[in-house]
Amino acid sequence: MARFWVCAAGAGFFLTFLVLHSCFCGSPNILYRLDVGWPKYSEHFTGTTFCVAVDSFNGLVYVAQRGDNMPKVLVFTEDGYFLRAWNYTVDTPHGIFAASTPYERSVWITDIGNGSYGHTVKKYNSFGDLVQVLGTPGKKGTDLNPLQFDNPAELYVEDTGDIYIVDGDGGLNNRLFKLSQDFTMLWLHGENGTGPTQFNIPHSVTVDSAGRVWVADRGNKRIQVFDKDTGEWLGAWDNCFTEEGPSSVRFTPDGKYLIVAQLNLSRLLLLEAPPVGSIGSCSVVSTIQLADQVLPHLLDVDRKIGAIYVAEIGAKQVQKYVPLKSYFLSLGS
Ligand SMILES: *[C@@H]1O[C@H](CO)[C@@H](O)[C@H](O)[C@H]1NC(C)=O
Ligand SMILES: *[C@@H]1O[C@H](CO)[C@@H](O)[C@H](O)[C@H]1NC(C)=O
Ligand SMILES: *[C@@H]1O[C@H](CO)[C@@H](O)[C@H](O)[C@H]1NC(C)=O
Ligand SMILES: *[C@@H]1O[C@H](CO)[C@@H](O)[C@H](O)[C@H]1NC(C)=O
Repeated sequence: MARFWVCAAGAGFFLTFLVLHSCFCGSPNILYRLDVGWPKYSEHFTGTTFCVAVDSFNGLVYVAQRGDNMPKVLVFTEDGYFLRAWNYTVDTPHGIFAASTPYERSVWITDIGNGSYGHTVKKYNSFGDLVQVLGTPGKKGTDLNPLQFDNPAELYVEDTGDIYIVDGDGGLNNRLFKLSQDFTMLWLHGENGTGPTQFNIPHSVTVDSAGRVWVADRGNKRIQVFDKDTGEWLGAWDNCFTEEGPSSVRFTPDGKYLIVAQLNLSRLLLLEAPPVGSIGSCSVVSTIQLADQVLPHLLDVDRKIGAIYVAEIGAKQVQKYVPLKSYFLSLGS
C-alpha cells in the first residue's frame, strides 16, 4: 500500500511536485522535491500516520500512527533510518511536537483516545518514557481545574517552555490556550462560533518570531492570529480557504512563508507570511499538489534545511519534501 503511493507520487515527481504560481519580480522561486529515499524502509508505517514532528536540534523525526497491535510512535533519523518505536501509554495519537533544547529531548503527543491514557496531552522523553500528563486521563470534559480535554488536536511548545494547545478536533471544546512552563494557564479563548476569537475545530497551532500565534481554524475555513503575550486577536485570513479549511500550519525556518495543509484537497499551500505588525490578507505564493487521496493531515518543518515532513492519512505514510537549491540561494541574497 505504502509503496503504491510512493510510486503514484513519484511518477509526477519533476513536473508536479510544485506547481509554481508565477511570482512578482524579485520573489524567490520556491521549489521542493520529494525525497524518495525517506524513510529508507516504508514498511515501518503499519498504521494510519496522523502526525509528524521534527527535532531539528538532534536530527530526529517522530511519527505517530494509529491502529491495533502496533507501535504507535516511530523514531527515524533525518536521513530516514529507523531507530526505535513505542506504544506504551499511547492510545490514539492526533498531534505531535518535538520540543528539544540543548538540555532536554522531549516529544509531546495529543491523545484523543477514550481508553485509560486518552483525552490527554503527554510529554515523553526521546525513548518513550512518560514524563508529564496534562488533562484527566480516560475522562473527556470541559473543565479547566482540573484540566480536561476532548479530542485535543495539537500543541506548540516554545523554547522557553511556554505551551499553546488547540482543543480540539470536533469534541466538546473549541479552545486555544497558553500554559506557562509550570502549567499555569496564561490566557484562553474557548468559545464555539464563527466570530473573532471563536473557533470551530481549531486543528493546528504555531508561533512565529514576531510573537504571533497562528491557528488553523479548520471548520471556519480560516486562520486566526493572536498576540502570544496577551492573547489579543490580531486578525484572520479566510480568502485562501474558500474551498477547504486549513488542517496544519507551520513556518519555513526563515519565517517568510507559512505552509498549510488542506486535507481533502490533498495539497499544501505556501502563503506569504507578513512581517511584524498587521497580518493583512492571505496570499498564495506556491501550491504543492499531492496525489489524489493522499490526505495530508499534519506536517512539520525542519529548522535547519527547511525540509517539510507530511503525515498523510490516506497514503498511510510520511513523506519528506526538500527545498531545492535555488531557494537557498535566494535566502542568502
Ligand atoms: C505494541 O507494539 C508491539 C510491536 O512493537 C506489538 O506487538 C504490540 O501488540 C503493541 N501493543 C499494543 C497495545 O498495541
Ligand atoms: C472508544 O473508542 C472505540 C474506538 O474508536 C469505540 O469503538 C468505542 O465505542 C469507544 N468507547 C466509548 C466508551 O466511547
Ligand atoms: C459548535 O457550533 C456548531 C455550529 O453551530 C455546531 O455544529 C457544533 O456542534 C458546536 N460544537 C460544540 C462543541 O458545541
Ligand atoms: C473531508 O471529507 C470528509 C468526507 O467527506 C469529511 O467528513 C471531512 O469533514 C472533510 N474534512 C475537511 C477538513 O474538509
